[in-house]
Parts: sequence; C-alpha cells; structure tokens
Amino acid sequence: MQLKHFNNHVINVSETGSTNSRIQEENNNGKLLNGSALITEKQTVGKGQRGNIWVSEPHKNLTFSVITFPNIDSKFAFHLNIIAALAVQKTLKDLKLIAKIKWPNDILINSKKICGILVENQIASKNIVQSVIGIGLNVNQIDFEKSLNATSLKLEGVSVELKDVFNQIYSYLDFYYNLLIESNFKLLLKLYYDNMLWYNSIGNFDDGNSTFKAILKGINNQGLLHLIKEGGKNSFYDIKEIKFLYQ
Ligand code: BTN
Repeated sequence: MQLKHFNNHVINVSETGSTNSRIQEENNNGKLLNGSALITEKQTVGKGQRGNIWVSEPHKNLTFSVITFPNIDSKFAFHLNIIAALAVQKTLKDLKLIAKIKWPNDILINSKKICGILVENQIASKNIVQSVIGIGLNVNQIDFEKSLNATSLKLEGVSVELKDVFNQIYSYLDFYYNLLIESNFKLLLKLYYDNMLWYNSIGNFDDGNSTFKAILKGINNQGLLHLIKEGGKNSFYDIKEIKFLYQ
C-alpha cells in the first residue's frame, strides 16, 4: 500500500522501557519526521491506560509507537484513538478475525483483549501538535495471567511474522490518518461505531457505585462515553469512571 503521510522510518531498539516515552526522547523536539515509528521486542515498563503497566512477553509480541504531527483542532483528540483502533481492527479483519473495539480503544476478540492502545497528545494553542500512538498487540504469546482475560493471534489460530503485522498496521494507520487530515471526522466516527462493542445496544457497566445495564449511544464531542440508563437518563463517563462488564 502506498503511504500518503508517513515516511516509513522505523527505529528498532533491542530493549526499552516504554516505546511511547522512547520515541518522544528520540524526537527530541523535532528530529523525527511525521509517521516515524519505534519498535522493540522487549519493552520493560510498558505504559497502559489509567496508569496501568502493559506487560508483554519479550520477543513474542508487537510493542511499538508512531509519532505524528497532525496539527488539527484539539476537539478532535479522540479521533487519534479512533484511527489507531481502526488500523488494528482492519489488520485483524484481513487475518479473518472479527475484532470489537471496546471504548476507548481496547481491541477484543471473543471478549478477550488482544491489543491495547495508548495515545498521548500534545496540545498547543488548541491544536494537537504531536500525537504518539502506542500499540501493544499480542501475537505469539500463549500464556497470560488469567485475570488479564487476554488472547493473542497464536491463540486465535493465526501464525504471522511480527514484521508483517507491523507493516500492515502501519499502512492502515497511514490510511486512516489521511482521512483524519482530510477532515473526514464523521466517516471515521461511523467506522468506529460500526466496530464498537455494544454500540446502540444494551451492555453491562460498573461505575464504581453499582453495576447496571444501559444502552451505549456512542461518544460525545469530548470523547466521553454516552450511555442511556434505565428510565432514559443520559449519562457521560470518562475512562476512569466506568468499567465494561463483558466477560
Ligand atoms: C492499555 O490497554 O492499557 C494500553 C496499553 C498500551 C501498550 C502499548 S505497547 C507500545 C506502547 N508503549 C507503551 O508504553 N504503551 C504502548
């Protein structure tokens, strides 16, 4: 696939703490071109959402980050999550796997997590001047701590080379990034909803006070999750405020 924005510059490091942090250090305020990637087979302190740690068995999985300079209005910050989730979802679809996106951007197969995404944006004068998109995809790992409820490509019956899956995700990321730069915000949101877990249907949630059923209506302009609770009340949640009970 012809790349439209990314430069295909891939930095390989044998080991690093977090690829998200490392690529920002390598950039050192402007050294890297748009779409440069940093990949390692051994990430020792992977960063996850909600301040969690992302654990990945060395040499088995994909752990990489792509640095982009989109310069779009910060009100579209959630769209960086959208393009990352779609790039992974489409790559898995090509491998004949049906993946669901659990808001904001966990990728699930048969209710098990196969991929985590961490997007870190830098905003200046209401514009996203830099976005680091970090992706951890379980590829060849077959043992996971049970509580993680995780799966991998291998456990789903797919054998692939790490570099081939990386190349595919990278190309799709460039493709969806192009839609973003061309301001196709509505189309991207539609594609996200098409693949979103429980979109427009009833799901089970936990808000820290109680568990409840609600209709998932999508996300609002701030990227908050929009639920309609029993009785018709509209409620909006940030990532730290709500858990999906999907297992
Ligand atoms: C999550 O599900 O909590 C998000 C996990 C994101 C992990 C990836 S692995 C590559 C990149 N570097 C990091 O430190 N984190 C992301």
